[in-house]
Amino acid sequence: MASLGYSSDALNFNPKTFDKTLSTLSDNVDVTEINDDTSDKDEVAETTTTTSPLSNVSSVLHTKISRKPATVVKSQGSFLYTSDGAKIFDATCGAAVTCIGHNDQRVRKAIVEQLDKVAYIYSPFFTTEAAEQLATELTASTGGKMSKVFIVSSGTEAVEAALKMARQYFTELPQPQWQRTKFIARKQSYHGNTLGSLSVGFHPGRRAVYESILAQNVSHVSPCYPYRGMRSGESDQAYVARLAQELEDKFQELGPDTVCAFVAETTAGMTLGCVPPVPGYHKAMKEVCERHGALYVLDEVMSGMGRTGTLHAWEQEGVVPDLQTVAKGLGAGYAPIGALMVGDKVVDVVTHGTGSFVHSQTYQGHPVACAASNEVQRIIREENLLQNVRERGEQLGKLLQQRLSDHKNVGNIRGRGLFWGVELVKDKATKEPLDPSEQTTAKMHQIGMQADYGISLLPGSGTIDGKLGDVVVLAPAYNITSADVGLIVDRLEKVIKAVLG
Ligand SMILES: Cc1ncc(COP(=O)(O)O)c(C=O)c1O
Repeated sequence: MASLGYSSDALNFNPKTFDKTLSTLSDNVDVTEINDDTSDKDEVAETTTTTSPLSNVSSVLHTKISRKPATVVKSQGSFLYTSDGAKIFDATCGAAVTCIGHNDQRVRKAIVEQLDKVAYIYSPFFTTEAAEQLATELTASTGGKMSKVFIVSSGTEAVEAALKMARQYFTELPQPQWQRTKFIARKQSYHGNTLGSLSVGFHPGRRAVYESILAQNVSHVSPCYPYRGMRSGESDQAYVARLAQELEDKFQELGPDTVCAFVAETTAGMTLGCVPPVPGYHKAMKEVCERHGALYVLDEVMSGMGRTGTLHAWEQEGVVPDLQTVAKGLGAGYAPIGALMVGDKVVDVVTHGTGSFVHSQTYQGHPVACAASNEVQRIIREENLLQNVRERGEQLGKLLQQRLSDHKNVGNIRGRGLFWGVELVKDKATKEPLDPSEQTTAKMHQIGMQADYGISLLPGSGTIDGKLGDVVVLAPAYNITSADVGLIVDRLEKVIKAVLG
């Protein structure tokens, strides 16, 4: 869990004090409305009654070291089955990952077939059909605008590769610009958990312990967060112009020719709580970068590969990045995979420079991960799932508004495609946030996981400043049905009422 964009605080609440709250809440909650097919519950419970007496002891370094989370023993479609008999609707695809649902037999077959051919090669020495095919499909999906793909095993690794590629680009220009050593990124962003990616990301709670060893060459500007960032009466245009001016000012402060790149999530993910950009935002920000010769890097690890309704989230923004990172929906969780996609301009410079990317990893282009990913992407295309993302997404957004917007603690509902955030506040009129010591979204996550509620929700906290600001995020599978949309909203509403009344 610590590798995700949301605050680990959101899950690290104090169970001692919470257990009491939970039992009180459970006593007060009417769970009879839950329309859950529990036919598989007994079967799962039966298969797990033989667990060892040591089953609560774990050698895994879990997020909360002394607390072992529920054990999943089976998964199918959008459902997870735990060893204690709960059947949970996975309304978040884990961390926006399992986008075609669990246990897909086509992907299983593709993985086994790849294992029968070749499980591993060392990428400087060999390539595979699986890697070639994945890279070809990905570049084709951008109309060739991104012309090379560097395949890694996670979103973090893709971001690290992007930072290095950006730097390398400037050292290999016909007139090298060695002075370009700095990056500008955004507050309340998440780009991964290695020191480099954590340095460009900005979550005060997550960075605090490591602050003194994070890279000092990164500056952060305001995110695009209309609910809290837009002034009263301000138009979209004026807000965008103000954010672009802030970026311009940052370039001027740092020295415009010292900046390698601006890095941003196309639609903000967990750290801000699922916020799509205001129209024209990315165009305006990219113009500032172009004016100063810096690269435009879009991190689509969470918002890309179809999550927001188009394969690449930037397609909806009228911009093309110079570098793009993807992961999560790329392999849908069937294998760890991420990728850096490199735009033509950068490829051209590096090809005519040293002719190689000064970066590599042992598991780069892993054949089994590529084979899984190829099949996942084929399924998304053949089953026309992006259309379903758009249609079910619209339905989900409307239903969330209808059912939740009148709730006294629901301050803002925002999202795009099948990526929605519900920001909770103490006072709707003033937008005063909830008291962080209440650990509201953590409670929601925990209650949702109980068999009576049966929904997995992504809890976010610290969305305003790293400490204040609570959001619950939904990111269900691309193949959910209309009935699933109803189920998600029913259960979310029930959880919100259980925790906030
Ligand atoms: C936008 C973004 N970038 C990067 C990452 C890091 O990806 P991973 O956890 O696969 O390393 C995440 C993970 O949540 C993310 O949301």
